[in-house]
Amino acid sequence: MSQDLWEREYVNHSISSSTNTRPSHGTEFLRQCLPRIAEVSGPPRLLDLGCGGGRNIEVLEETGLGFYGMDFALRPLAAARARKGGRTLRLVQGSMAEPLPFKTGIFSIVTAFTAVENIVEDRQLRQLGEQVRRVLCPDGLFYVYFLTTDDTYYQPLVSRGSDGRCLTYDPVTELRQRVYRLNELCELFSPSFELLTSAEFTFQDTRSNGTWERRLAAGLWKRD
Ligand SMILES: C[S@@+](CC[C@H](N)C(=O)[O-])C[C@H]1O[C@@H](n2cnc3c(N)ncnc32)[C@H](O)[C@@H]1O
Repeated sequence: MSQDLWEREYVNHSISSSTNTRPSHGTEFLRQCLPRIAEVSGPPRLLDLGCGGGRNIEVLEETGLGFYGMDFALRPLAAARARKGGRTLRLVQGSMAEPLPFKTGIFSIVTAFTAVENIVEDRQLRQLGEQVRRVLCPDGLFYVYFLTTDDTYYQPLVSRGSDGRCLTYDPVTELRQRVYRLNELCELFSPSFELLTSAEFTFQDTRSNGTWERRLAAGLWKRD
């Protein structure tokens, strides 16, 4: 269901990440984390979950690691493939809500740029954390760039559940997502991961229906 909505979004291009070919703002902090990423002693591979059309591939390659991208929608994967040039990219169709289709311990870092918002249930996000831990090497890292509850585009679309979850429904895309707080992610990734560092992002974003102050955050977690 949400896969169909994402396929449609990559035709309609109503949200920034599917329109932009520039790297995500979330890559700025990843660049600052490059010295820490270089300390990981694991296999020379990086996995980007919900990689979309691959606008972050070039920055992610600055890690010096071989790029693997996973997304459940075929249309963006085809767009990512078209960016390939002469490089070796491995692009896999798969869902973050299912066991990850990769062997144990084969990545040094897993990244997710505005992708975990699509996992709305605590149980499924915990399961994703366990799967990421499984595919990472022992000192591997998990970098997550995510929409926060202060984002002014999503704020009017939020309904707060009795359990405190901030769920969103966007009538433009019809997507149901979840906006997270950093401490919620820390709790849901615990005990598999420990937070090393985090950053907040604020920028203006203009869409057909207005200009919004976007508020996102990123965290770098270390496998426990
Ligand atoms: C907001 S876009 C971000 C794309 C890319 N990371 C970027 O920064 O441009 C979210 C991406 O997550 C993918 N996605 C959503 N739910 C998913 C799931 N359960 N499993 C795998 N990919 C998913 C969508 O198809 C979409 O490409």
